[in-house]
Amino acid sequence: MRYSFTIGALVSSVFATRPFLNEPDTGLLDKIGYNFPVGSLPELEDMVGLPDFEWAARNYLPIVNYTYYRNGAAGEWSYRNNLEVYQRYRFKPRMMVDISGIKSTLPTTILGHNFSAPFYISPCAKAAYGHPDAELNLVKGANAGGILYIPSRYSSLKMETIAEAAAPDQTLFAQLKLSNDDVASKKLFTRAEAAGYKAIVWTVDAPGGSSRQRAQRFDVGASDEFTVQTWDKLQQYRNWTSLPIGLKGIQSVADARLAVDHGVPFIILSNHGGRNLDGSPSPLEVALEIHETDPSIFQEIEVLADGGVRYGTDALKLLALGVKAVGIGRPFMFSNVYGQEGVEKVIDIMKTEIAGDAANIGVADLKSINPDYVKWQPNFWYT
Ligand SMILES: Cc1cc2nc3c(=O)[nH]c(=O)nc-3n(C[C@H](O)[C@H](O)[C@H](O)COP(=O)(O)O)c2cc1C
Repeated sequence: MRYSFTIGALVSSVFATRPFLNEPDTGLLDKIGYNFPVGSLPELEDMVGLPDFEWAARNYLPIVNYTYYRNGAAGEWSYRNNLEVYQRYRFKPRMMVDISGIKSTLPTTILGHNFSAPFYISPCAKAAYGHPDAELNLVKGANAGGILYIPSRYSSLKMETIAEAAAPDQTLFAQLKLSNDDVASKKLFTRAEAAGYKAIVWTVDAPGGSSRQRAQRFDVGASDEFTVQTWDKLQQYRNWTSLPIGLKGIQSVADARLAVDHGVPFIILSNHGGRNLDGSPSPLEVALEIHETDPSIFQEIEVLADGGVRYGTDALKLLALGVKAVGIGRPFMFSNVYGQEGVEKVIDIMKTEIAGDAANIGVADLKSINPDYVKWQPNFWYT
């Protein structure tokens, strides 16, 4: 009797629903108070981690604006998986390593351009939903922090206005989502080149419409256009610009290999932050599959990745597989409610976490991080 009760309790606890934590508790409300007024913004100094910025933005922004940023596709299972997948794999920390120089090893290059850290601001539309200065805070914050910013094709400000706000030596890539209208597309390439952008990021992960239910409720859903995106189109676009064209939204080893075969200079593993196809893999899963089945891709092409990166440890797991730099989307949009200072704070937090966590796993030089620092068998609880 007692035996079967114990077995029963064990079985039911194994199958109990695991709670999903959109923003893990960092003690923010313990500090600012559980009755902190809706519509108010906590002090910037109370933002100690990236998830705090989401709480602040949700509390402060009109619900429509917050929902546009927060939204995921359909049941949001891919959105949720993007966040949780990093916890499926544990580090294998090494001790007794001289890590005194780790901070000096954060700088990296992307397409030959120098940056102070291996992370960047992913292209996200409509920064004016977060702050009246919109993308200006992001471009200036990126410059102050020395990282890459990729403004979205659907930015609140024109691509020329954003480029004009950049520092003379600042590198920007332009993200383009191209329609079936070739005349309009060609103009975008010409404008991006004339404005001084150094590369084109062609987003290819949304050829169809997407079901964004949370956003649709507030009338800020996605477009339902069906777009032709093929390797032939890539060749056509190459004839229109001298800028390198990379592909954002690669989600399989097969397409990563095809990108290499087609001479694409860089790819971004991304499922659009779980906003387009529910059931699409997280970038970590795709990077792991590349590592297991066709690892030389990481040497043959620059591989970037974005989706769900909220901690230095998340970034380190992607870097360990061979990803060159990781993109961060929503946290930067949420940080924009504090203006440029908020953007800079996210950059500072990520640099501190990446350097500290790399040291804690025994990495002396960030360039030497490799798959051996992570146990790639998933933990049961997060499968
Ligand atoms: C509000 C919002 C708008 C976005 N707009 C674009 C866009 O215009 N073009 C694009 O390629 N990706 C866009 N993305 C996807 C991001 O570039 C990036 O892939 C994603 O945000 C990464 O996931 P994360 O938010 O979990 O960091 C958008 C994402 C968000 C949250």
